[in-house]
Amino acid sequence: MAGNRKTIGILTGGGDCPGINAVIRAVAKAAMNDHNWRIVGFRDGYAGLVMRESVVLTNQSVSNILSVGGTILGTSNKADPLKWAEWLDGKLTFFDKSKDVLAYCDELELSALVCVGGDGTLSIANRLLDKGLPVVGIPKTIDNDLSGTDITFGHDSAVATAVDAIDKLHTTAQSHHRVMVVEVMGRYAGWLALCSGLAGGGDIILIPEIPYDIEKVCRTVVDRAGRGKLFSIVVVAEGAEPIGGEKVVQQMIADSPDPIRLGGIGKIVGNKIEQMTGVETRVTILGHVQRGGSPTAFDRILATKYGVGAVELIEKKQFGQMVCLRGNDIQSVPIAEAVGKLKLVPTDSELMATARSVGTEFGDS
Ligand code: F6P
Repeated sequence: MAGNRKTIGILTGGGDCPGINAVIRAVAKAAMNDHNWRIVGFRDGYAGLVMRESVVLTNQSVSNILSVGGTILGTSNKADPLKWAEWLDGKLTFFDKSKDVLAYCDELELSALVCVGGDGTLSIANRLLDKGLPVVGIPKTIDNDLSGTDITFGHDSAVATAVDAIDKLHTTAQSHHRVMVVEVMGRYAGWLALCSGLAGGGDIILIPEIPYDIEKVCRTVVDRAGRGKLFSIVVVAEGAEPIGGEKVVQQMIADSPDPIRLGGIGKIVGNKIEQMTGVETRVTILGHVQRGGSPTAFDRILATKYGVGAVELIEKKQFGQMVCLRGNDIQSVPIAEAVGKLKLVPTDSELMATARSVGTEFGDS
């Protein structure tokens, strides 16, 4: 099979996002060009490890994918080899498949596995490390809520998509003297709402870290109108919640390790604003549009640096580590330090202070 060549593996788990293919390409090229290693990709995240579905990656298979969104390997935000879900007699039953996974990796003569993902994917990677699988991690998520790194790849591209949408919504807001509410992703962390709101000139930004007072939100809309600003742009994270209220759950996915899917808070905020201020209001939910499309130049470069960095970690046998960005430098951090505690927006951060200085309302003051 592998002959004398060392073999490494790669899988992409969790939600897709722009830049994953750039990571796969960088890992494969660095492995092949710098070390003459063989590389296999597992299909659909951890499902491929359990279902024994893998493919050898070649220079040809990773060619022309740098700018392409999604993942050529497929992904899953349900598959967990340590808690493998199967429906038996109409009942959801869970199995530990870690022994089968280790046996499959032995058969493939795998020296290391690169796991590309967010908190869920990397938590599983860390548990597989404990079972004896040599893993390294690469931080991915549009939410940018993974600890241990300044930024995850995919976030910048999602921000760019949201800013483009906000810019377009601005014209209708201005022309029709309306409030335009735009709901962006971000379950627990408001990075996407804050960054796109700041870059898109959002007048009101509602993030999960700051429960909002709807009276305050409406007062801002009315005050702006009083100053001749007859429109307002409201950017709402899907995980935002009113003071004393709760997140809006859209769906529960029974066989997912993280079953809650949010959505709909934008509509609630929009309805309240229209009722309480009398200003005509429209709501746009961006949803999975934010996860699609071509990565930004920033994400292509970051993803490439992360991929090459992960191969260097394997070369140095630094298993259990995740590549990360600190300032301008690619470094690494134990995966155990990155998972289990989400990186929320610090409410006393410079970014928040900057937004407040230009008059952004967060519904709290
Ligand atoms: O974690 C990434 C993310 O896009 C969240 O922002 C969002 O809440 C969730 O995934 C949506 O998941 P799904 O693709 O299962 O609907």
